[in-house]
Amino acid sequence: MVNVVGLGYIGLPTALMLAAHGVEVTGTDCSRELVDTLNRGETTFQEEGLDGLFQRAAAAGIRFSSEYICAEMYIISVPTPYDKASKKVDASYVRGAVEQVLKVCPGGAVLVIESTVPPGTIERFVRPLIEEKGLAVGADIHLAHAPERIIPGNMVYELKHNSRTIGADEPEIGERVKRLYASFCQGEIVTTDIRTAEMTKVVENTFRDINIAFANELAKICRSDNLNVYEIIRIANQHPRVNILSPGPGVGGHCISVDPWFLVGDYPGLANIILAARKINDSMPEFVLERINQIMKEEGITDPSRVGLYGLTYKEDVDDMRESPTLQMLECMERHLAGGRVKVYDPYIREGVVEHQYHDFGQFVNSVDMVVIMVGHRQIREQRTALKGKIVLDTRNIFGGKDIYCL
Ligand SMILES: NC(=O)c1ccc[n+]([C@@H]2O[C@H](COP(=O)([O-])OP(=O)(O)OC[C@H]3O[C@@H](n4cnc5c(N)ncnc54)[C@H](O)[C@@H]3O)[C@@H](O)[C@H]2O)c1
Repeated sequence: MVNVVGLGYIGLPTALMLAAHGVEVTGTDCSRELVDTLNRGETTFQEEGLDGLFQRAAAAGIRFSSEYICAEMYIISVPTPYDKASKKVDASYVRGAVEQVLKVCPGGAVLVIESTVPPGTIERFVRPLIEEKGLAVGADIHLAHAPERIIPGNMVYELKHNSRTIGADEPEIGERVKRLYASFCQGEIVTTDIRTAEMTKVVENTFRDINIAFANELAKICRSDNLNVYEIIRIANQHPRVNILSPGPGVGGHCISVDPWFLVGDYPGLANIILAARKINDSMPEFVLERINQIMKEEGITDPSRVGLYGLTYKEDVDDMRESPTLQMLECMERHLAGGRVKVYDPYIREGVVEHQYHDFGQFVNSVDMVVIMVGHRQIREQRTALKGKIVLDTRNIFGGKDIYCL
């Protein structure tokens, strides 16, 4: 029996995947509302293939509860934000979940921390909770780390097919956890020690952040010299050892824009490129605003309410707005566009979250002269003709730059 604790973007699909592959699973979340929704048979976010997986897991008998369950193994998948002042991990959710688990778990239970954490977190923040109870790690309770690599928008596929890392300081525990994940994971599962697994996960996301920052810096350089950054990256990437990612309006989400800060916070003075990359990526919403201002001037648009931002989520085809560049841009808009009266639309965000938000694509497009594509959702890719006659700034380069403005 496995108790998956934290049923958000990562915990829910993991719990469903395990149950759908024959593991007895109870999913626990401290949000009663979320548990009630799942118990009504509804999923809590939109994701390709999630509803089908939910049906399979339900048929296999998965249970959802706000109670922590007595189980042989726990997978803890709760948030790990960073503290904005110290840049260090905020381990309070992980600690809170472990404290609850320790109240119900039997001797010999394995606690698998799936949340992303910087190296040393499990040692510094989880081990003491166990020892304070007079229990011994490695005898009464076993610890492991199984960081997640899946990407929102393709989670169900990637859960099955990605390779993954299991960190455990006791090799036999590493093998047990590996067998559990191998119930659904067809990718290679590498086992290592806990600190190495912690560091590896953070390094993976930091690599992507730095690569994107390089692309974003190139976008700024190319803009200053009237060069086409996309053409330059396309050609450079034909070199067999060059792989530059794409520039964009900023980096959002719960991972890439967060995890590099852990290294900045924990290794001050050493994480220099990492810090520079974070600053470049965080500067992109302002860069887009400057670009909007330039284009408005060139096109003679004086009224900000004739400008529309398409996309509120941090990436395409998901409903997750955490750290979204559009939200960051709206925040500093007052300084750039009088009154910040720009209009906003996102097909994945049905509730009203910002001012001047539209819920109908046609009405949104008809109400503006200029559309700024902040997110390349499938909808806009498939409905380019709806933008006919509009001035378009395509910050994601989804239309290849012809007859439209790009970064
Ligand atoms: N979202 C991603 O794309 C992604 C990808 C890879 C790794 N991760 C990592 O996975 C972890 C979880 O991220 P997420 O996006 O699923 O977060 P989330 O905010 O979507 O979900 C976390 C869930 O945990 C619940 N929770 C919090 N404290 C709890 C407690 N004490 N007991 C029970 N439930 C509790 C919350 O109610 C919430 O439903 C983070 O460390 C994140 O960095 C996320």
